[in-house]
Amino acid sequence: MMDKLQFIRQELESLKAAGLYNTVHEIGSAQRAWIMADGRRVLNLCSNNYLALADDRRLVDAAKEALERYGAGPAAVRSIAGTLTLHRELEEALARFKGVEAAIALQSGFMANLGVIQALMGQDDEIFSDELNHASIIDGIRLSRAHVTRYAHADVSDLKLKLKTSPRKKKLVITDGVFSMDGDIAPLKEIADAAEKSGAMVMVDDAHGEGVLGRAGRGIVDHFGLHGRIDIEIGTLSKAFGVVGGYVAGSAVLIDYLRQRARSFLFSSATTAADTAACIAAVKILESDDGPVKKLWENALYFREKTRALGYNTGRTETPITPIIVGDAEKAKKLSSMLFAEEVFAQAIAYPTVPKGAARIRCMVSASHSKGDLDFAVDKLKKAGKELGII
Ligand SMILES: Cc1ncc(COP(=O)(O)O)c(C=O)c1O
Repeated sequence: MMDKLQFIRQELESLKAAGLYNTVHEIGSAQRAWIMADGRRVLNLCSNNYLALADDRRLVDAAKEALERYGAGPAAVRSIAGTLTLHRELEEALARFKGVEAAIALQSGFMANLGVIQALMGQDDEIFSDELNHASIIDGIRLSRAHVTRYAHADVSDLKLKLKTSPRKKKLVITDGVFSMDGDIAPLKEIADAAEKSGAMVMVDDAHGEGVLGRAGRGIVDHFGLHGRIDIEIGTLSKAFGVVGGYVAGSAVLIDYLRQRARSFLFSSATTAADTAACIAAVKILESDDGPVKKLWENALYFREKTRALGYNTGRTETPITPIIVGDAEKAKKLSSMLFAEEVFAQAIAYPTVPKGAARIRCMVSASHSKGDLDFAVDKLKKAGKELGII
């Protein structure tokens, strides 16, 4: 009989042959500096738990209380079964935190990008997208069926040129705020200037900026003082906020429209009461205490300086995302597995997540790490890097 799945087997084999087959480690503990991965206690340099909120008692207690009061599941999509009081409270808290008129909470940052791009843009419109934008932006653009023009990474001159020659009436510029694989920050002010000149809307995905940039982690718009000039902000609740979920923040009219048109809002159930209550607790913590953001930055700068001093190439990072760029995918994998054997969990990342020949291990520093933890990682990086001839 014909093997209809032969193409899948072939593809898996070629991924393995190219060193691109992804093995997922199994985590047996809460997210914190040291975790249990595949049954071993390892230092965690993989998570986006920037502010150490993922296992914070205040979030856990809020989730427990909501679970008791509202039960386990939302039972249907919000537009049909109604929206929990907690969803409204979270949206109000997020709007306040980001300094915008309104916000809509969704299941994830990925779903936020899918929902908003498809709702706003159609076949007659044009989207200008940074070539290194996140996969969920790329997929949102595909769903919208709008014309897409990629501009060179963070290159505002290229963007300007492309905006100028566009014949379309409705235009949208989309950029990641902090680029997730390199840790560099988008030139958002210059992007906003260019977009304003040509009447284009601007959308920024702040997934790695919130909790990191701006006053007490209010994000990239706050960092550059661009309040009122960015039309659409996308956020995730799964990174610095420590839980799960996503949102869109912006003007009241935008959010009102998304409640009518965003398919991820209309056709998919919401986050649970427990998740939502934990998210509210996280926003409140950020509003009352900038200590975790300060600690995050102290750790990030310390670790970056130490790894650079060892001779590693950390690329163009300006944030706690610290790539250690190795180039060859096999070598990056080897470095990652040698580190894992030495109790440091830092995942190798290769094509297609990053360009071919730019494989790396991506180290995520957080507020949960102590100086001792970071020194431990640096020591192991030194040993493994020397053994592999990288440094
Ligand atoms: C820039 C960016 N946007 C969106 C997402 C998706 O967020 P979530 O995990 O909430 O779906 C991510 C997470 O990987 C991201 O890095």
